[in-house]
Amino acid sequence: MRIVYYLLFFLCVTCGAHLSAQQVSPELQAKWDKENSLPENPLLHHAPSRLPDRITLVPASSLADEMAVIWRTDTTVKSSRIEIIAADTLTFPKENRRRFNGSYNVVHYKDYPMHYHKVIVKNLDRGTLYKYRVGNSPDWSPWHTYRHGNFEDTVRLLYFGDTQNGIYEHTTKIYKEAAKKFDNAGLAVYIGDLINHADNDYEWSEWHAATGDINTTLPVIATPGNHEYLKNLDGKKTRLSAYWTSTFPYPYEWDAGQYYMDFGFVRFIVLNSNEKLDAQAEWLDSLLNNTQQDWVVLVSHHPVFSGAKNRQNKGLQENWLPVIKKHRDKIGLVLQGHDHTYARGGFPERDVNKTNPSHPVFTVTVIGDKFYELDRQPWMDVAISHVSSYQYIELTRDRITYKAYSETNHLIDQFEINKPE
Ligand SMILES: [Fe+2]
Repeated sequence: MRIVYYLLFFLCVTCGAHLSAQQVSPELQAKWDKENSLPENPLLHHAPSRLPDRITLVPASSLADEMAVIWRTDTTVKSSRIEIIAADTLTFPKENRRRFNGSYNVVHYKDYPMHYHKVIVKNLDRGTLYKYRVGNSPDWSPWHTYRHGNFEDTVRLLYFGDTQNGIYEHTTKIYKEAAKKFDNAGLAVYIGDLINHADNDYEWSEWHAATGDINTTLPVIATPGNHEYLKNLDGKKTRLSAYWTSTFPYPYEWDAGQYYMDFGFVRFIVLNSNEKLDAQAEWLDSLLNNTQQDWVVLVSHHPVFSGAKNRQNKGLQENWLPVIKKHRDKIGLVLQGHDHTYARGGFPERDVNKTNPSHPVFTVTVIGDKFYELDRQPWMDVAISHVSSYQYIELTRDRITYKAYSETNHLIDQFEINKPE
């Protein structure tokens, strides 16, 4: 049933992308064209070619032995293929090479169309190092390596806030630092607002260029922010960008775009804080009622408790907060973004313990150079203004260790959650 929902959602959004170019008003089209224009001094080449780019590993099912690989080409490329070799040692014997074929869909930028390819790789062995390339002869990508996760004892992940502005310029270094320092991580979580304008192909190029070291080596979990939506002339969200749905084909539960994934003993529940909050609250409650994993990590773009002035999210507090409170024993972390600041804390009525807080801990973070003024509030244990950071998180069955680093790899915050005996 989940697959049917996902297919409907995906077709719906993709068709919407195709139709919108013909059906929107001239005023709206002019607005979108303006938003999607190139910067005066582009730093990157961005148009597609026959060579694959924007390669991204996406867990497209809850099956632990599968992984989807996504990439982009121009529309002359009409086959989607991956070659993958397993290695037990340091070498990658050619005789171990396997090939998988997939499919593509068309994404329309105002200046050109492009193909987004998807191949599902099956029968992956936990803990095994793989080498892979995508495309087709003679237009292959370079080879990349990927270790399929072994999450039996420990789940390790990197967590990143909104990139949005100055993407390539201001975040390339910090993404690379994170990937290099924590090359043992098994997952990457992106909290949305990856770009500023939903259908700006150049901005997507910047994001993929900045995050390429991560996206080619770690499965990516992502939730959309408000900037991944196209908006009408009144500023109201009209639909999620086709770039998003083509890059992140998760097993969405239904058309609100929420999903969940299990990695070992941890269940990641990824909510879409942009729409249908009340229905998602019911879904979340029902899912948590039946969740037996040792930990739950909630992922949401908008924060339940805001870190900046005048940005309280009443919809989340009315709909989601009661569910989170009800299931607080299961939820370790609520990872969030949107507020362009760093903050973490818990329910306002908690006993404060900065080093070993009770769970769930609510977090807000940002990466890049766009910051909002902090508004210190009762829910916060730690709040840091104007810092671009990344987070490394380790979960074992009875403990969560959380560390936040600045772009110079300075440890700016850390805490540990211990499960009561
Ligand atoms: Fe946002």
